[in-house]
Amino acid sequence: MKIGIASDHAGFELKEYLKGLLEKEGYEVIDYGPEIKKVVDYPDYAEKVARGIQEKEIKFGILICGTGIGMSIIANKFKGIRAARCCCTYDAFLARQHNDANVLTLGGRLVGKELALEISKVFLSTSFSKGRHLRRVNKIKRIENEK
Ligand code: RB5
Repeated sequence: MKIGIASDHAGFELKEYLKGLLEKEGYEVIDYGPEIKKVVDYPDYAEKVARGIQEKEIKFGILICGTGIGMSIIANKFKGIRAARCCCTYDAFLARQHNDANVLTLGGRLVGKELALEISKVFLSTSFSKGRHLRRVNKIKRIENEK
């Protein structure tokens, strides 16, 4: 499965850590940057991953800033993106099962590396349950299409 990852400066180290370990888990990881640790603006990197999903280059995205909040705000502005900021594995499980989230956002200043890896693995391996949740996600899509 192809996934995208990006960060700002506050999430850079976690991005590098997750990228390597998720590749070892068998995921094909496209790194949307930055390539080196430098001060950048998180909206620019959220946009790259959101466009990657819209253009079907990747199925899921992982976006990391200091808190995960800025990345989630921006990612959720893009049509077809359902970004969830997750702080624990249960968040990640339900974001996939109930919300069919396609972008995970993490706080590089809040979540430890090992927990972030576990959250990512749960997010990437949990399926959407559909059923009543599909009806709700379809309502999100309807509202999105009104814009
Ligand atoms: C950068 O200092 C910080 O504001 C950013 O990483 C993020 O936490 C914003 O939501």
